[in-house]
Parts: sequence; structure tokens; C-alpha cells
Amino acid sequence: MEANVPKRKEPAKSLRIKVISMGNAEVGKSCIIKRYCEKRFVSKYLATIGIDYGVTKVQVRDREIKVNIFDMAGHPFFYEVRNEFYKDTQGVILVYDVGQKDSFDALDSWLAEMKQELGPHGNMDNIIFVVCANKIDCTKHRCIDESEGRLWAESKGFLYFETSAQTGEGINEMFQTFYVSIVDLCDNGGKRPTANNSASFTKEQADTIRRIRNSKDSWDMLGVRPGASREEVNKAYRKLAVLLHPDKCVAPGSEDAFKAVVNARTALLRNIK
Ligand code: GTP
Ligand code: MG
Repeated sequence: MEANVPKRKEPAKSLRIKVISMGNAEVGKSCIIKRYCEKRFVSKYLATIGIDYGVTKVQVRDREIKVNIFDMAGHPFFYEVRNEFYKDTQGVILVYDVGQKDSFDALDSWLAEMKQELGPHGNMDNIIFVVCANKIDCTKHRCIDESEGRLWAESKGFLYFETSAQTGEGINEMFQTFYVSIVDLCDNGGKRPTANNSASFTKEQADTIRRIRNSKDSWDMLGVRPGASREEVNKAYRKLAVLLHPDKCVAPGSEDAFKAVVNARTALLRNIK
């Protein structure tokens, strides 16, 4: 009489995953991991020598996950030690210091190093990356704002969190979302679920926002030559307005970029006969 036997719920299979940390020396990789695993902060800088390895267990939904964490040294000196640890990774914690522009600019070279080590058959599309904009407690020294960091991360389909290993802000949320995404990836046969695969804005929008942010004057911002006519200015403005209008564009920083373009056009038209 099968129908009367209550079905016992099968325990979900436990899972073992590998995550690594990446980013320049001194950005706070080890402190982020320590804050999460040991609930403490060490203010003295103790550079990681090569690799620090640790194992931790976490609960995601009804699953027990065993996490192998390889905390890498950021200093170039340790390249040869860390390069063999890139393989068979499901998740990467990619960290920069919001007060150190170099560490933000270096994110691309960290991805390049990983890609090179994985070789021609390595596939970075099926790894979960979380970008940590760390040391947000140091507000005075901040030089990379949230929209710039988020734009970089989200245009690559990466998660983005603002964190402080010192205060703990953002750390638990970051790890929780990171682990849930990795479990979803594993449940999807090791492939990133398609919904998480791409940004909700185009590369053209992201590149335009970056270009506007770095433009040197109003002409440059609108992408016209100095001394351009009213018609040329208006034409360039309309093109940018369509691309970046807040109703159409959800890319981080698009509202500020749109405002800057409106102001640039107004300033230029005021002076063109
Ligand atoms: P390497 O191991 O050399 O690659 O460096 P790392 O990225 O692991 O840096 P680590 O975690 O050792 O931190 C470097 C320094 O930054 C230490 O002095 C930390 O105390 C400090 N630090 C880390 N996170 C934070 C943070 O969120 N806020 C502040 N104010 N300081 C932090
Ligand atoms: Mg370290």
C-alpha cells in the first residue's frame, strides 16, 4: 500500500566547492575571509605568503556546503606560487580597495592572469565572480565610487558588493549571495544559469558612461570637435540621450552620465551663435 506510506524527504546532497581570492596586495582579501570565518578584524598588515588554505562549512538553503578557500597573495613576487591554484575553481572573490585606484585598474590584469593559467581550454564563463569594493569605512580616501565599480562588475556579469572587513559591512550578504550563486551553478550542471549570464545593459552603454566620466571638457563629452555647430551638438546630444535616458538605461552611473550630457549641451549652446 505505497500510497499510505509518507514519503521521506531525501536529504539534499552535500557539496564541496573551491573558491579563491584575487586582487592586489593589501586590498583586504585575507581580512574579508577572516571577518566572515572568524568574525574578527586584524588591523596589522600580515602579507599572505603564497597561499593560505582553509576549509569551512556553510549552509545554503537545506544544503551543507564544504568550502575550500584558497586565499592568494596579491604581491607579484608570489605569482609562481599562486598560478597553479586557479584550476577547478567554482567561485572567485575579486577584491579592490576603494581608496587605491591602482587596485581597481588592476582587476583586468587579474582576470588576464587567471585566463592565462587556465589555458586555451579553460572557461571563465562558468565561474561565479564576486567583486568586493573593500575598505568602504575609509570614506575620506575613497576615489572609486560605487557606480564605477558596479559598472565594471555588472558589465562582465559579476556580482558586486561594497564591503568593509573592518566594520563587517556587506561581508555576510556578499558571502551568502556568492555561495547561493555557486550552488545554483552546480545544480545547473556547472553552467551559469542563463538569467545571470549577461548584464542588463549593453557594452555600448557601459563604454559610453566610462567615456563621459573621463571626458576632459563639454566638447569631448558630447564627442564633437571643439567649435562644432549647434546642429552637430544637438545631433550628438540626441544620440547620447537615447542611449542613456534613465527610462531606457539601467547601467550603474547612467543617471549621472545623462545629467552631465544635458549640462554639457546647455553650456555649449549658450556660447554658440
Ligand atoms: P596580501 O595578502 O598581501 O595579498 O594582502 P591582502 O589583500 O590579503 O590584505 P589584508 O587582508 O592582509 O589587509 C591589508 C591591510 O588592510 C591590513 O592592514 C588590514 O588591516 C587592512 N584592511 C583590510 N580590510 C580593511 C577594511 O575593510 N577597512 C580598513 N580600514 N582596513 C582594512
Ligand atoms: Mg592576504
